[in-house]
Amino acid sequence: MSKPLVLVTRQIPDAGLDLLRGQCHVALWEEDSVVPRDWVLEHIREASGVLCLLTDTIDRGVLDAAPSLKVVSTMAVGFDNIAVNECSKRGIPVGHTPGVLTETTADFSFALLMAAARRIVDGARYVKEGHWKTWSPTLFLGQDMSGATLGIVGFGRIGQAVARRAKGFGMRVLACRSTTQAPTQGEAHDDVEFVDFPTVLTESDFVSLHVPLTQETHHLIGKSELARMKNSAILVNTSRGSVIDSQALALALAVGDITYAALDVTDPEPVPLEHPLFHEPHCLIVPHIASASFATRGKMSVMAAENLLAGLHGKRLPFVVNPEVYA
Ligand code: DGY
Repeated sequence: MSKPLVLVTRQIPDAGLDLLRGQCHVALWEEDSVVPRDWVLEHIREASGVLCLLTDTIDRGVLDAAPSLKVVSTMAVGFDNIAVNECSKRGIPVGHTPGVLTETTADFSFALLMAAARRIVDGARYVKEGHWKTWSPTLFLGQDMSGATLGIVGFGRIGQAVARRAKGFGMRVLACRSTTQAPTQGEAHDDVEFVDFPTVLTESDFVSLHVPLTQETHHLIGKSELARMKNSAILVNTSRGSVIDSQALALALAVGDITYAALDVTDPEPVPLEHPLFHEPHCLIVPHIASASFATRGKMSVMAAENLLAGLHGKRLPFVVNPEVYA
């Protein structure tokens, strides 16, 4: 039997790619750039599977161009770039990579929080630019972690892992699972206090976002939410850029509604040089690398490849986003 053709939209760690190459013909977009839509439309015609990234849009147009497609697998936990409903209508399972990146992403969320609270990047830049002349009692004063209140918005796997770290630092932890509903009475989770979304915003010294991007969470943090936060608050985002209204955030930082933002994700990505956030001195931006450890990215590539192979063989994907396709 001839090997099926699969599309891989970027060079991924070898572990995953080798798995696929053992069983499939792989059409790989080899450049380290977002795969052009035309390339996808051209190659997906004959393909049985596609392994994509969060930078690729898998929409109706792509699916319409892929009459033989059996499976879509993304090398990410988030899948807001994929028209999952359209896949489900066509009986195409969609795979993703939950769990494997939880601790790595939580580490990074905490690293961003600490970098912002203790002005680590500002201090490093100051030294490298040659400004350091002497020890000073008032140089780069920041905020203590211990005793501070951390508000976690979205209490899934990553939110919970961030809460565990915060407890180790002696912080009070507030959390909301849903941004629209009140918490369940008496709900408890390792000393985490469940409150509603507005209370997380008003009472927290630091707010960390861990919700998936959906219609409900798009611009969840806008002008009025930022205005509710403490003027001294720090906002951390490792979820998706458009959970925050980035224009409103730039304004809030400029007028001092909050004190600092530390962002792994932006809207759009990459953040354009002319975007007001780019020029905000109290906005730390890194290039969507929260899950970027050697080990985790290797495991993500294997999970994505295993999801893809299961779909090609007509088996249930180990990590499926739309289980309704099996109903
Ligand atoms: C994801 O997996 O969704 C992250 O944003 C990248 O690891």
